[in-house]
Amino acid sequence: MKKYGLIGYPLAHSFSEEYFTEKFQREGLQNECSYEAFPLTNLSDFPAFIKANPNLCGLNVTIPHKIGIIYFLNKLAPAAKEIDAVNCIKITKRPAIDAFFMGECSPSDVFLEGYNTDAYGFEHSLRPLLRKHHQKALILGNGGASRAIAYVLQLLNIDHHFVSRKGKGKNYSYAQLSREIIEEHTLIINTTPLGTFPKVDESPEIPYKYLTKHHLLYDLVYNPEESTFLKQGKAGGATIKNGLEMLHLQAEKAWEIWNS
Ligand SMILES: NC(=O)c1ccc[n+]([C@@H]2O[C@H](COP(=O)([O-])OP(=O)(O)OC[C@H]3O[C@@H](n4cnc5c(N)ncnc54)[C@H](OP(=O)(O)O)[C@@H]3O)[C@@H](O)[C@H]2O)c1
Repeated sequence: MKKYGLIGYPLAHSFSEEYFTEKFQREGLQNECSYEAFPLTNLSDFPAFIKANPNLCGLNVTIPHKIGIIYFLNKLAPAAKEIDAVNCIKITKRPAIDAFFMGECSPSDVFLEGYNTDAYGFEHSLRPLLRKHHQKALILGNGGASRAIAYVLQLLNIDHHFVSRKGKGKNYSYAQLSREIIEEHTLIINTTPLGTFPKVDESPEIPYKYLTKHHLLYDLVYNPEESTFLKQGKAGGATIKNGLEMLHLQAEKAWEIWNS
């Protein structure tokens, strides 16, 4: 039985566990593959966890381990290296002698390769919505997910600014967001958890009254389907997009990586 799973902490509800369990059933793989959520409080337990689960072929990684996990990996895909965050690990077994000749210094026969599939999911769900006037973007929030978003915007040549509560350095603070700034930045991406169920009334404090039909509001939040952030965008005539397609795309990309 090939084992897959999710590590992070806490893992109250796991989208990935539900997604892959349903996928394995739908595709008749339930006797060959299983998916489990593994709450991992401390990353120092990761090597022992890998050793104790020899059938593991792939992992998803979530909060708070997307950055710290890098220390434990043998190789990083270029995008994961640039973003400096990993949300997908491919686990393969190699005879130690192969590893030696490939220049790997790990004494283990387990080879761990890190990827960032959030970037893939975001890019491919955003692209169809982009129009010529989406030249400048605001990224609300400055956490792990925002790095993947910034990487994609750079790839797409979209100039971007972060908006953060502290507003240090090049970042704007929410209070600094003037009419001019909002009108200039027609793509606005929420990477904060604000508005996630059950706190559905919350939303980032941007001046929604300056939104126009030229704006595209993208929310990484997918539960509820239409967050208060998106509702306010819609009321201002903007195009809106939630994070559900990104979530599905990143999961399918992980599956492709694990099977490549
Ligand atoms: N759809 C998808 O496929 C997908 C993929 C990855 C993540 N996500 C979602 O994206 C969200 C962010 O993930 P993450 O890993 O980046 O989370 P995170 O690191 O915990 O938080 C992101 C940022 O949000 C801001 N923030 C947090 N609480 C806030 C508050 N009360 N008011 C205003 N700003 C606040 C903070 O930025 P400042 O301190 O700089 O203000 C923080 O760095 C989560 O809801 C996650 O579920 C979705």
